[in-house]
Amino acid sequence: MAASSPPPGVESLSKPVQQLVINGEQVAEKYIYRNTDDGPISASFPVTEIPIIDLGLLTSSSPTGESELEKLRSALSSWGCFQAINHGMESSFLDKVREATKEFFALPMEEKQKYSRTLEDIEGYGNDTVFTEHQTLDWTDRLYLLVRPEDQRKLKLWPENPETFRDTLNEYTEKLGQLTEIVLKAMAKSLSLEDSCFLDHCREGALMYTRFNLYPVCPRPDVILGLKPHADGSTITFLLQDKEVEGLQVLKDDKWVGVPVIPQALLINLGDQSELTSNGIFKSLVHRVVTNSERERISVATFLLPHPDMEIEPANGLVNEQRPRLYKRVKNYVSLFFHNYQQGKRPIDTLKI
Ligand code: OGA
Ligand code: NI
Repeated sequence: MAASSPPPGVESLSKPVQQLVINGEQVAEKYIYRNTDDGPISASFPVTEIPIIDLGLLTSSSPTGESELEKLRSALSSWGCFQAINHGMESSFLDKVREATKEFFALPMEEKQKYSRTLEDIEGYGNDTVFTEHQTLDWTDRLYLLVRPEDQRKLKLWPENPETFRDTLNEYTEKLGQLTEIVLKAMAKSLSLEDSCFLDHCREGALMYTRFNLYPVCPRPDVILGLKPHADGSTITFLLQDKEVEGLQVLKDDKWVGVPVIPQALLINLGDQSELTSNGIFKSLVHRVVTNSERERISVATFLLPHPDMEIEPANGLVNEQRPRLYKRVKNYVSLFFHNYQQGKRPIDTLKI
């Protein structure tokens, strides 16, 4: 989920979930998820194979390259996500990113709170923004940082502890920048569109945010979610999952299914802004995170967002008589995002023609 600034005056900050757990506090009512339309919460839903895409093949013009593109098109049209392998990052580097995340969250609270977000800012260490009394809170703490454009980074919010944190994040951002181009080009090619069609979303001024998530051990995984159901407001999202602890579930054919962890893979999911550009051919993935009473889980999500002034609309090549334009043109899509999310609605639905 990619955030926007909340409107002034209605929000407050809540305590880190980790703190509630350490204090052994009784679980507050506001964490209990009551939307039963969604079916029960359970970590034991069937785990399904998510399509696996070899990124190395996407740039090849050989017949295997063509068939990988076809696999990509099919994965994004039916699932809205895939497990990316052969992405050019060593497993040991992915482990380093995971380690830096774990070490940060393992720091004493006072140390982490040096990077706390303020009411006015979405960046920094903290958790759910409280807009209304009736809101259900997510069982998660996070460190949210803008990583691109580089000159907009707020380095005072970038942990200096663990020592490797900043360099690791810098390198990870660099690598994801390269992957972004490969994936966005391939998405266009798979639909026989101009390269620029999705690539424009990462043109100058595009934003990349990385969110380090901690899902602490939860006493009531049967009624509490780590993240409520949502689709991301991004163009695409890269998710590095915990190597050992599962928790991500995706909605497929109206049923929740668990996403297995492939340690060396990155999960790439499509966000609403690509669904819009593809005129609904690609699906923005609806997903949620369940909690666990025995083990905490970490993940690292990186969101790519077009420059807020860029107009997003269905690509011309995908609008025709058989397939009329599904969505209105929009700027700064993420500004629609937060309120809808907290109310359990999908912002993209407000743009349907
Ligand atoms: C997100 C998200 C999934 C996860 O941050 O938007 O969906 O497994 N994260 O943490
Ligand atoms: Ni998400």
